[in-house]
Amino acid sequence: MVQYNDDLKQEIRNANDIVDVISQYVILKRSGRNFMGLCPFHKEKSPSFSVSPDRQYYHCFGCGKGGDVYNFIMEIERLSFRESLEFLAERGHIQLPEVNDEEFSKKQYMIDRMNKINLETAMFYHERLYMPLAKIAQDYVKTRKLDNHTLQAFKIGYSGEYNELYTFLKGKGFQDHEILATGLVNQNDRGEFIDRFRKRLMFPIISVSGKPVAFGGRRLEDNDKIAKYINSNENLVYSKKKHLFALNLAKQSEEKRIILVEGYMDAISLYQRGIDNVVASLGTALTEEQGRLLRKYSQQVIFSYDSDGAGQNAIKRGIEVLEKQNCDARVLQMEGAKDPDEFIIKYGSGRFKLLVDNAISLVEFKIKMLKDGYNLDNAKDKIAFLKKITDVLSSVENKIEREIYIDKIAEQYGISKQAIYAEVNKALYKGKAETMLVKPTAKIENSKVGEVDSVIRKRENMVLYLLINYPKETKEMIQSNISADDLKIEENKLIFEKIMALEEKDSEKITQQIANLEDEKIQEHISEIMVTDYEITSVEKCVQDVILIYNKERLQNRKLQIVKELENPNLEKGQMKELEMELSDIIVKMAKIK
Ligand code: CTP
Ligand code: MN
Repeated sequence: MVQYNDDLKQEIRNANDIVDVISQYVILKRSGRNFMGLCPFHKEKSPSFSVSPDRQYYHCFGCGKGGDVYNFIMEIERLSFRESLEFLAERGHIQLPEVNDEEFSKKQYMIDRMNKINLETAMFYHERLYMPLAKIAQDYVKTRKLDNHTLQAFKIGYSGEYNELYTFLKGKGFQDHEILATGLVNQNDRGEFIDRFRKRLMFPIISVSGKPVAFGGRRLEDNDKIAKYINSNENLVYSKKKHLFALNLAKQSEEKRIILVEGYMDAISLYQRGIDNVVASLGTALTEEQGRLLRKYSQQVIFSYDSDGAGQNAIKRGIEVLEKQNCDARVLQMEGAKDPDEFIIKYGSGRFKLLVDNAISLVEFKIKMLKDGYNLDNAKDKIAFLKKITDVLSSVENKIEREIYIDKIAEQYGISKQAIYAEVNKALYKGKAETMLVKPTAKIENSKVGEVDSVIRKRENMVLYLLINYPKETKEMIQSNISADDLKIEENKLIFEKIMALEEKDSEKITQQIANLEDEKIQEHISEIMVTDYEITSVEKCVQDVILIYNKERLQNRKLQIVKELENPNLEKGQMKELEMELSDIIVKMAKIK
């Protein structure tokens, strides 16, 4: 059903340089022939994530993930192969051929219709806000101090009564099932069509690419019996966990950091007052997908949630999502207002920006949260608090960073620096002592297994490396001396067989062919080979050496086998003689090799 072939796949790959693509998610630094950065797929403090511009491959030596640009996009954007193909085609401005798969085009058509309905609806609501019948909304907007420029920037609107939107959309030629699919209109038991949003102030949620995909509607009356907000349900074009309100605007900001707030009104209010690098998570816990979006458009994220307990707890969870993605996350501390909207109206944008600049790190935030349970004027509480913060502080790996925190905390909470150091050192020492006592035996065993593994791995990688990079010089030699059975790692066997089966003797073509092996595990092996620079000076010498190793190993194995067979008491004389001759032959051969 999929309308793509290897040529198209390659064309799209050529249009998306892997270093450019990965740079949008990871900060990369040149290191020899490759680029290095912190792996986006696991938490790490020092870079083991390598990207090769020559081979167009990435590989993490920490977690083993790797592959080509498709694998990267599939993994980081959580897309299927097909979706990542579309994603990269769009990014590389490559027109995909028309697909004549009925189901697929039906779905595409529906998505297209829903996008059109959402766009028409956003304009319908927005224009309605300026009509005389919208006086209640206009008054409300005034009390919230929103100016006209803001209303336009966010396409804020006012929803109609009963079925006005439905009637409008029908007039535009949309069909009932298309309208219902957006969730903007519902059908009741009597078969009547009723608008979902009625007489509410409307906030469209606009995707990064500028399309309205969903709406939030705020009640206008001060009536706790009615839900304050109603939001669009999830549907074909809207997945709540993948969107952030106002990111379409924030991504245009010159600021490299993004301020993350909870509510529609917080984002809008800050934006109006010149803080344009703000997005809202809309009252839900930050998801991994949202975290990745943030990471893509900024280097630092500053949480500015409501100052109530719920907001502060949500920060704790959200910040962990971002930390996992190696994102510099900080927390803004606000006093004298319940949320950013109220704060900036009360104290102005200058004061708000100061809070942004003074946002604290995760460690400081955790300690501040711990402090809430204790009264530090009380000696007992102070000791308990000190014990609690020791865990947090001793988890800071960098010594200098740890010292800075200790200095700050000592001053801030009036605890003696020496006391904190004493506790932290005790904890650190305890941790170290434990690893020294318990781990040695385990470690030796592990490293033995690991060493054998790593020798074999290096050797097999070298064979494949030679085959991929120097097929003209090495393929025949390798083919007549090494077979797939000689390789121990399953994935390497498959790669080896694939290369051997190819007529091709052009390195670039071979690279393309094996890049098309759609198996994650295989790609992880290939990527490791691709990003490693073996610095080979003589290909000839190198291939001879590897072949020699395999030959030696084969002889050695046969030798052991014969020795064992000779121990068999039921062996016939003739057989014994034959084996003994073979054995002496092997011994001579081995002596020659040495
Ligand atoms: N929210 C919601 N449904 C509710 C309450 C809140 O969906 N009944 C979501 C909205 O996305 C809202 C966010 O949670 O923007 C934060 O809630 P809150 O701080 O109460 O809303 P504000 O946007 O600050 O709105 P306002 O200032 O008008 O109260
Ligand atoms: Mn609010």
